[in-house]
Amino acid sequence: MQTLLVVSLCLGIAHGQSIMTVRTTHTEVEVHAGGSVDLPCSFHINDTQPPVISWLKGPSPDSSVKVFKGNYNWLGEGIAFQESNSYKESFGDFNGRANVPNLAVPTLRLTHIHPQDEGRYWCQVAQWSIRTEFGLDAKSVVLRVTGHAPSNNVHVSTPELAEVDEGNDVTMTCPCNNCANANVTWYTGPTFFENYETGTYKPLANRNQFGHTWFDPEIAGRASFSGARNLVIRAAKITDAGRVWCEVATGQTEMDSDRSSTILRVKLEPFTCDDKPTGLYADPTACDYYYQCIPGYPPLHRPCGYPGMVFNEAMQYCDWDINVPPPCGSAQA
Ligand SMILES: *[C@@H]1O[C@H](CO)[C@@H](O)[C@H](O)[C@H]1NC(C)=O
Ligand SMILES: *[C@@H]1O[C@H](CO)[C@@H](O)[C@H](O)[C@H]1NC(C)=O
Repeated sequence: MQTLLVVSLCLGIAHGQSIMTVRTTHTEVEVHAGGSVDLPCSFHINDTQPPVISWLKGPSPDSSVKVFKGNYNWLGEGIAFQESNSYKESFGDFNGRANVPNLAVPTLRLTHIHPQDEGRYWCQVAQWSIRTEFGLDAKSVVLRVTGHAPSNNVHVSTPELAEVDEGNDVTMTCPCNNCANANVTWYTGPTFFENYETGTYKPLANRNQFGHTWFDPEIAGRASFSGARNLVIRAAKITDAGRVWCEVATGQTEMDSDRSSTILRVKLEPFTCDDKPTGLYADPTACDYYYQCIPGYPPLHRPCGYPGMVFNEAMQYCDWDINVPPPCGSAQA
């Protein structure tokens, strides 16, 4: 767990970090019992390896049942992915009724609909190789079976990106439909140590339906709610960067709660050698890089250049991560 967090912080969101974004075109889809229906979903990620597609049903991705799972077999760099090279499985009551015909655009096709299929479905897309919060995103689509239940499902739609300069204040918005008197929880994550399939999410802030608020110690004293749902973080730190989710719940059923993520990017002032003695300095955005300051020259940006090594500022050389204190290494203080 510690290692995963450290890796995601060190790589930061600076040097072309791959970020998964899942998109849905509909918040709700209606179908007659006995019919078939498509739940639309698409994704974007800047990565050469194809991701893992999961469709889940329930109030949130980490509290759900599996509907469908699919991925392409990895045949190697530069080889086209073909549906004939894919693994696809549908689960439980959805066995044989759930399919994603094209994993590149992972719209779910459900057939032989019955009333119990009504509920919230999550299109979750996870980067295959590096399981970090940046590589997994999910969006929900509500399925309604005609004549069964009224339409008043909760729908959360956060912006895909929020940016702030280190030290400045940022407001993360949580636009929501049908959300009066809701219990609002902001999470970070997911991490993959405890639950490989969906990851686990860490609560960051909560404002319950009675207006009581709670904040994680990392942001307590710097955070507040603005209005009913928006989260304000003051004096943003580089460690605040990551994927943050807004979950809104107005009741107990899966129709009554939804969540959606925003990537929070914290931008640093460019590194400068001004007022610094000659020497080597850690790159605050990348553990495996450092800066060299020589009077009269601009900063030289250098890689450690060896996998597994991070810069050890105290020793002034690149070192194994077990010898370097957090956040870049795992050395005990
Ligand atoms: C996409 O990945 C390539 C190769 O890693 C990188 O050069 C490029 O900057 C990335 N683009 C974005 C938008 O992150
Ligand atoms: C609000 O939601 C959180 C997270 O799901 C939950 O732990 C808490 O019990 C809820 N509070 C109330 C008052 O419903």
